[in-house]
Order: sequence, then C-alpha cells, then structure tokens
Amino acid sequence: MKVLLVGSGGREHALAWKLKQSSKLSKLYCAPGNAGIAHLAECVAIGSEDVAAIVRFAQENAIDFVVVGPEAPLTLGLADRLREAGIPTFGPSASAARLEGSKAFMKDMAARMNIPTAWYQNFTDITKAKAFVREKGAPIVIKTSGLAAGKGVILCQTVEEALEAVELMMVKREFGDAGSEIVIEEFLTGEEASYFALCDGKNALAMAAAQDHKAVGDGDTGPNTGGMGAYSPAPVVTPEVEAKIMERIVKPAVQGMAELGAPFAGVLFAGLMIKDGEPKLIEFNVRFGDPECQVLMSRLDGDLLEILFAAATGRLDQVKLGWKPETALVVVMAAAGYPGSYKKGTVIEGLDEAGHVEGAIIFHAGTKAQDGQILANGGRVLGVTATGSSVKQAQARAYQSVERIRWPEGFCRRDIGWRAVARETQS
Ligand code: AMP
Ligand code: GLY
Repeated sequence: MKVLLVGSGGREHALAWKLKQSSKLSKLYCAPGNAGIAHLAECVAIGSEDVAAIVRFAQENAIDFVVVGPEAPLTLGLADRLREAGIPTFGPSASAARLEGSKAFMKDMAARMNIPTAWYQNFTDITKAKAFVREKGAPIVIKTSGLAAGKGVILCQTVEEALEAVELMMVKREFGDAGSEIVIEEFLTGEEASYFALCDGKNALAMAAAQDHKAVGDGDTGPNTGGMGAYSPAPVVTPEVEAKIMERIVKPAVQGMAELGAPFAGVLFAGLMIKDGEPKLIEFNVRFGDPECQVLMSRLDGDLLEILFAAATGRLDQVKLGWKPETALVVVMAAAGYPGSYKKGTVIEGLDEAGHVEGAIIFHAGTKAQDGQILANGGRVLGVTATGSSVKQAQARAYQSVERIRWPEGFCRRDIGWRAVARETQS
C-alpha cells in the first residue's frame, strides 16, 4: 500500500515509525514531515492545511490510504475531500471533527447522550454570560467554543476573574472568532488522564490511557503548553475506570454522532478528570494526542497500518489490539522561551548517542536538516521516549538519553512521570 501521512510533529514521527514496520506498506510519503520523518518517508513540501494540494498529490501519486495527524486539516474537511476522491482516509469528516472544533457542540452532544461531564451553558450574549457567572459563583471555567491553539480555557478562582475572562473573549476578542461563542462550566477537580479509542463510525475499540504534563515547569507550574511529556499506561485508569470510560463516554459519543448523521471514524481522544474512580469528560479531541501518541506507538504491538485501515473502512470489529507490557515515557525538549517566543535555527547534536540508550527512541517534532546538521525549527522540538519495566525505569532511561543531547538553547521538564513514580514507590 502507498500511504500518505499528513503532519509534521512528534505525533506524526511516531505514526511514521510504526507505519514503517507494516508488511503491507510499499511506500510512505509525508506532507510536510520533519527531519526525523525524512529517514522513514519521502517528505513532500505541502503544508498540512493545504487541502487542495494534498488531494491533488494523493490523486497524482495513486495513494491508497491517507492518515491525517493534526486536527486543523480535519476541521477544514480534508478527510471529506479525500473520500470524495475515492481515497480511504483515517480521520473524521469535518462535521464529526466539530467534537473538537466546537466545544458548544461537544457539550450539547454530551448532554443529549447523558455523558458525565461538567455542568455548563453556552453563550453568544455577554450580558447573559455575566449573569450566569454571578449566579453560579467561583471557582468556574470560561472557554472559547472554537479552537484557540489550546489557550482558550481560563480557570477562574473568583467571580471577578471570571467576568474579566468573559470580557477578554467576547469584547476584547483576545482569541478572535473562537470567542464569539463561549462555554461556561463547572470547575472539576481530580486527576487528569487522556484516553484513546479507535472508532469506525459504528464500533469503538478501546486503545489505552496516557497522562500528559501540560504545564511548562516542574511540579506542574507555569503556563500551559501543548504537552511537555507523557507516559502510558496511566495507573489512575484502572481496568474498572477504563470500562466506565468506554461504556459511559466513548460508546455514547459514537452513537450520538451517528444519530446526528455525522458518524465518527478516526481516533477519539477523551480528556478526562478522574475523582474517586469516576471519570468525567473535560473535552474530546478528534486525533491522537501529542506527545501521548509517542508513548502509545511505543507500546502498541500490532500492525498500525492494518488497524488504521480497518478503522477507516468500517471493519474495526475484526481487529484486536495488543500492547507490550512495558511502560513508555516521553520527555519533550523545547526551545528556550516556549510556550512564549523562542529562537529557531539553533544546532542540536548528540542525537545518535541519545538513541543508543537501552529502550530509547528520539522522535522529532520541530526539526529540520540543513547542511548535515539538525536544527531546531519549532517550539516543541524533540520527544525523547523510552520504554522500561516500570515508570521509574522508563523515566531513568529517557533522562539518560536527554543527557546525551547537546542543545544549549533547549530545555525540558525534569519530573515527567512524577505522579506515577510516587504511586509505584507507595505500593
Ligand atoms: P482543554 O483545552 O479543554 O483541554 O483545557 C485545558 C486544560 O484546562 C485541561 O487539561 C484542564 O487541566 C483544564 N480544564 C479544562 N476544563 C476544566 C474544568 N471544567 N475543570 C477543571 N479544569 C479544567
Ligand atoms: N497533549 C495534548 C494534546 O495533544 O492535545
């Protein structure tokens, strides 16, 4: 099979690495890819949101299957256009991608299907929004309904902060059109986890849980990022919790979307808050998490190409997933300054030595190759990943690997996995 992978992050490097192991693969292309992906695939210089150019490339090169990594092209209808052109595609339609693209839509669907989630109300009218804040009191959460690069969520400890957040979104238009509709919801407490399930429009197949570290600083301090590290499995998601996630959250969502005439096919990523063994839905994403994908792919035991193709062609009921017993952990290395402004073009050395640590693999995110050197080309730059028989061992190996990377302009968190390590130490 000739496969085209769309995207350029660490998530796509991990997908490329796993797709490359498939006996069914004859040729792998990636648009646009990065310096790490270039070792596994032929990279083509087409941006991941250039829908028309991707469809044209797939047609001209007789691509048999397209795998879409990021959410933006999905919300723009890339999967719809490819399927109209007769090309099987892994990734939901634009109308199913509203689960991520519109929080107001997601909350209404969840309410209709009785999915456990924070209480909420959607607003386009600022006076009504403010009245609701005053009625409910604090703590409370204010969100833009539309996509805001992970920044459109404000957790408010006081009513004053919440009223300011409403102003910021609806009057000052800090997040542009994403804030023309807002969601005001309950402040949930507990432990967060990411859960992934494959869907083919009718069936849902449980994958696995992971835990991300969103804050930029050690001890979960500082501003939120796209994710500074992750591990899988996530001990907070016990088999009992996993069964509740599938029965109460994932399966009702698949059914709810089918009833709306927007069947969901792709990977459903549930962002969860878990308290006393009870999972509540924070949000849905319609793609693999980044960096969660790096640890999932490290643990997956099976042919990713066959699995994704089955999800794309409505045959998930014929698939069984296997997982290696090890824990996988990824430490993200980012450019100094991230998630604020940062420099591009700094030189990274030592990647080969870093990859020789037992169980380690370095996934590239924002990198580019130039004159035989690897240069930083984004905020999150590398995903240093390792497997081990415990979280502690995977963590030790990942940080040993980090030590071998010579990149003075980069940084990483030093405590990825701390919650799970604390649990292991206790037991
Ligand atoms: P989101 O963009 O919806 O994933 O939100 C970003 C982060 O904000 C989440 O990972 C949570 O840490 C936090 N968050 C979002 N919604 C809530 C909520 N209702 N209660 C508590 N924390 C939340
Ligand atoms: N790591 C969180 C995300 O991909 O949204």
